[in-house]
Amino acid sequence: MNKPIQASTPRRGIATTALHAGRHTTPERENSPALFLTSSFVFDSAAQAEALFAGKEEGNIYSRFTNPSVAAFEERIAAMENGEKALATASGMAAITTLFLSFLSAGDHLVLSRSVFGSTTTIANTLLARLGIRISQVPLSDLESWRQAITPQTRMFYLETPANPTLELADLSALAQLASEHNILLAVDNVFCTPCLQRPLELGAQLVIHSATKYMDGQGRVMGGAIVGSQALLMEHVYPFLRNTGPVLSPFNAWVLYKGLETLSLRMEKQCDNAEQVAHHLAARLKPPMAVHYPGLTSHRQHALAARQMRRFGAILCLELGSRAQAHRFIDTLQLATITANLGDVRTLVTHPATTTHGRLSPEMRQAAGVTDGLVRLSIGLEDVEDTIADLEQALASIQ
Ligand SMILES: Cc1ncc(COP(=O)(O)O)c(C=O)c1O
Repeated sequence: MNKPIQASTPRRGIATTALHAGRHTTPERENSPALFLTSSFVFDSAAQAEALFAGKEEGNIYSRFTNPSVAAFEERIAAMENGEKALATASGMAAITTLFLSFLSAGDHLVLSRSVFGSTTTIANTLLARLGIRISQVPLSDLESWRQAITPQTRMFYLETPANPTLELADLSALAQLASEHNILLAVDNVFCTPCLQRPLELGAQLVIHSATKYMDGQGRVMGGAIVGSQALLMEHVYPFLRNTGPVLSPFNAWVLYKGLETLSLRMEKQCDNAEQVAHHLAARLKPPMAVHYPGLTSHRQHALAARQMRRFGAILCLELGSRAQAHRFIDTLQLATITANLGDVRTLVTHPATTTHGRLSPEMRQAAGVTDGLVRLSIGLEDVEDTIADLEQALASIQ
């Protein structure tokens, strides 16, 4: 068996880690990882079954508990995020729901950024509220609002940075400091950055969430998610919830995602290059009230923070096009960009958040989250950037 890279071994580069962490071979000596597409595992005897169930012997029992293909993916993500442990889930939303239900109980208080993915706001305000968990939503970048929201019952801070889709940022070190002063868990959705661009655990967060559906797969094939953190937090709180309720990652999806991670840093670099070029082109081109939002532009309100906290500025950018009609016409005129609700794909994708991903929020909640009717989200892909820019140009011409 290859020796896996553990979080405790000297850190290697992110590309090396993505290729070598979580590598295990069976006696067949395969180079590409084996796929353990099985729901259960066989016991040599009734006594072995008893020992495994009692935890006296280590090993696989049932794929809702553990599975080698899933474990390899978990090991790799944990190493990339510089965490001790990762647990994989069926989707990003399964990771977020699992996180909330693993750590929060009736009477607890959750402080949630106002700028999070629409379904995250929805489950907080419906499911969690129904279970007696109190929620406060605060402006992501306003540290003072986070401080003022704290009560003796506050158990968790939850946020995305950069946020979907507004690209507003949180100062992770400052929030981590505030959270630790009050013994609050800081959980960060790191979907837009991936560990290639930002590692929240190194900045003081305790828990990182991923929708692996996005950049980790990168090719729009499978759903998946993960929660990363310390061995103690994950095994004490998250594992029992996952094992007993079952929103686990399928071995097949884990195998696809594991291979996706191998090219993640290469894709991220190129997609960041392309996004930077598109953002600079559009910044020079668009006249108010139209605008482009991208953390890599010096015009972005939090550019200095982005430069400090992120290794690069990511591959998502947003256009403000003034109205829903303009946004829809622009989207419908694009020829290369695919209209879809996903992001992080090798192809350039376009979404109108106000009528799709954030469509179920009330107009007030959308406004608070910064999701205007004229906002268009672009997830820049690997096409030749001149072609992407030409496509955007011809679509802009249709609304000017
Ligand atoms: C930032 C962010 N977090 C979480 C999710 C949910 O992930 P999934 O669709 O894999 O459930 C999404 C989905 O778009 C997202 O954009």
